[in-house]
Amino acid sequence: MKHDVVIIGSGLAGLSAAMELVGNLDVAIVTKVYPSRSHSGAAQGGVAAAVANHEKDDTPDLHMYDTVKGSDFLADQDAVEYMVNAAPDTIIKMEKLGCVFSRDGEQKIAQRAFGGHSRKRSCYAADRTGHALLHVLFEQSMKHKKNLTLYNEYYLLSLIYKDGVAKGVVVMDSKTGKIDIIYAKAVMFGTGGYGRAYNITSNAFSCTGDGIVAAYRAGLPLEDMEFVQFHPTGLYQQGILVSEAARGDGGYLINGKGERFMEKYAPSVMELAPRDIVSRAEQTEINEGRGIDGKDYVYIDLRHLGKEKILERLPQIRQLGIDFVGVDCIDNPVPIQPTAHYSMGGIPTTLDCRVLADVDGTIVKGFYAGGECACVSVHGANRLGTNSLLEACVFGEKAGRTILEDIASLSHEDINEEDEKSVVKKRIDNIFASPGTESTNAIRNELKINMTNNCGVYREKSKLETALSTVKELQEKFKNSKIADKSKLFNTELQEALELQNMLEFSELIVKGALERTESRGGHSRTDYPKRDDDNWLKHTFVSKQPDGSIELKYKPVTITKHQPVERKY
Ligand code: FUM
Repeated sequence: MKHDVVIIGSGLAGLSAAMELVGNLDVAIVTKVYPSRSHSGAAQGGVAAAVANHEKDDTPDLHMYDTVKGSDFLADQDAVEYMVNAAPDTIIKMEKLGCVFSRDGEQKIAQRAFGGHSRKRSCYAADRTGHALLHVLFEQSMKHKKNLTLYNEYYLLSLIYKDGVAKGVVVMDSKTGKIDIIYAKAVMFGTGGYGRAYNITSNAFSCTGDGIVAAYRAGLPLEDMEFVQFHPTGLYQQGILVSEAARGDGGYLINGKGERFMEKYAPSVMELAPRDIVSRAEQTEINEGRGIDGKDYVYIDLRHLGKEKILERLPQIRQLGIDFVGVDCIDNPVPIQPTAHYSMGGIPTTLDCRVLADVDGTIVKGFYAGGECACVSVHGANRLGTNSLLEACVFGEKAGRTILEDIASLSHEDINEEDEKSVVKKRIDNIFASPGTESTNAIRNELKINMTNNCGVYREKSKLETALSTVKELQEKFKNSKIADKSKLFNTELQEALELQNMLEFSELIVKGALERTESRGGHSRTDYPKRDDDNWLKHTFVSKQPDGSIELKYKPVTITKHQPVERKY
């Protein structure tokens, strides 16, 4: 299989890149699901842009400041500036492509409030914004079927990377188990995040960090892996997202004493503080016994919004509440808890989405990344809600344009097919052949509970050490695990085992980065180091795998252009 460009991932980033390329080049998209099932479709409350429909004084500059402040000053400001400036045109482009945004009274695209944004700037399609955007991009890309090959239900096994050049990927057709190589002049990853390593998560089953681990195993660094975002409103015990739009549109958070507890934590913006602050507030209420009936959840109360507003703006979350916890938010408060939602870390890239090979800025030839799997870094230590759909659209498109610029200088490289296949076959054969006794399900469950309890909303040295030793034990156990299904056809047990192997690999990196970072910043909150420490830690973490298998940590300065770090107050 040979294409000019192979894009791994069919979410907003991958499809946005494809849309730039399909008119000119032979493009392939590889997805382990089917494009319309990509996790971008789960994003609910909106996509941020200072189009100033609702609040006329909004500007990209204000959007930039909010994003930088929300990131706890770890975001690279040149990247943030690029993204916020591109945002208004991105909304117009998506509307012209056919995205049906909700409307305000003047029939303009409606905008709602979101945490950490000082203006109402979330453009939305009820509470199904990701779904609306994803379907539009998928449908539009299908116009170019002549130049676009879709490899649906193909699983990424490895990135082929040698001597500074990306040459293609090794994939498995999940339907037949056949392993193939795809040669490409340019490889682009839009493979999403890594939230499935947590017990309570809003992430789809597919979010197992396959892309970032493929890059890491190939010898490339990963950036800021310790920063994992917890969204404050996951349905209790399910983790399923209750959109921040519910608070943006006026919902209250209530503890077991019936108090709107955000008054204590963010008095000026209450429930609309950034997610790291709200999640910590909830966790503190729960830890101090003020959860509902002393249990590990609080309520989001939407009853005062009224049936009409809920049905118009929040129909999906109402249905999710009914279906998954048996609560209709029109009549009753909904039980919620923090849920692992977004991976701020990922594959380091330049502003142009070219992947970095090291902290010094060496660029990998022919390799690009965008969206949640990438770390450009527009979100720093904490992402603001609605900046994720924006990032995926803006940097997906940017990756496509950069590939167009580069393509004349790229070629199909020679690949030693046997070598490349034998590495992944060995991994698979080991799983098939293991006479082991450990259950992969049990290992997965233990990993998720470990990550949630020991490397979650709050962290501290001893818990992180427990987290690390547990991950290492589980890595060993995995070597002695077994799967029952030895067939080739649609072997989901095998694929889940490979995904688990990935989760075991990147979880170690999350914990290592978190242990080293002796400060609290954004989503990384250390009870033993409760303050942000700009003198020592205003820098990005780069982790990479050494030839002997050990992990090396290096650091890279944050790009600060306009806004010097100040204390965050809300
Ligand atoms: O809460 C939400 O609707 C999620 C949006 C986001 O993560 O950007």
